[in-house]
Amino acid sequence: MPDLAYVNGEIMPIEKAVVPIEDRGYQFGDGVYEFVASYEGRPFMLEEHLDRLERSMRELALDPVPRADIKKAVLDLFTLSGYPRAGLYIQIARGVAPRNHAITPGMTPQIIMTIRPVQEMPAEKREKGATAITVKDTRWGRCDIKTVQLLSNSLAKQKSLDAGCDDAIFVSGQGIVREGTSSNLFIVSGGRLTTHPLTDNILPGITRMVVLNLCKAADLVVEESFFGIEALLGADEVFLTGTVTELLPIVRIDDKSIGNGEVGPITRRLYDLLREQAMAGGPA
Ligand code: PDD
Repeated sequence: MPDLAYVNGEIMPIEKAVVPIEDRGYQFGDGVYEFVASYEGRPFMLEEHLDRLERSMRELALDPVPRADIKKAVLDLFTLSGYPRAGLYIQIARGVAPRNHAITPGMTPQIIMTIRPVQEMPAEKREKGATAITVKDTRWGRCDIKTVQLLSNSLAKQKSLDAGCDDAIFVSGQGIVREGTSSNLFIVSGGRLTTHPLTDNILPGITRMVVLNLCKAADLVVEESFFGIEALLGADEVFLTGTVTELLPIVRIDDKSIGNGEVGPITRRLYDLLREQAMAGGPA
């Protein structure tokens, strides 16, 4: 099977899929999305991703779409693609109407999906760790909604690659460390973990939630609280979490080594626990 797309009920090869030019997702970034990955053909944490998608739609007051329809299309795509390790994007835009900042009433949400094999992180990055730069968080004020407005994320990611690093970490104007360009962030200091609390400033990551639960099950102390750049650079271990990222060690930030510059034991342990849970298809 080729990489597939779904457009409003129809499945086709990705290169055949198009959207109308007056789609508000395209013109105004007026849409939301999700990314779900499978392990051995089974989508991981699908219900949690669908919950977040529904929440994102409610927050933007998009017209509701039956969850059962979305779920069926998602499962059909995972089955039809036949990829054991696939990544599926769901994108729902408000609808198509003559261009107008004001929202035309009665639009039908436009639902598109794409499925491809997951681009796995090189094994070396997991073994030796990845690197990051910090960047000012210039995103809009509702980062908790998974909207398609990803320009700041995309420019920050490119800036990190141009600097020879792997990712960028958003830091607020007041110096609070937020998250990565497509991942949440944890620090480990003196055996204790800290991650940003759930506010409007970060995405409530599904992997973040899985890792918090894994920490609790493994009796690791974890706190959801704000921390600054000194705590980040002075941490023993730093890692990112996300559906694509899984759990990625960061060993150098802005030319400063984190801890001893090697992947730390807590990061390794949590990565193994996360993989175990994902391969098992979910929590025990
Ligand atoms: N992004 N923070 C941001 C800004 C993200 O875009 C993502 C995920 C996460 C992690 O969320 P989760 O654990 O639910 O994947 C945190 C997806 C993978 C993407 O944009 O492709």
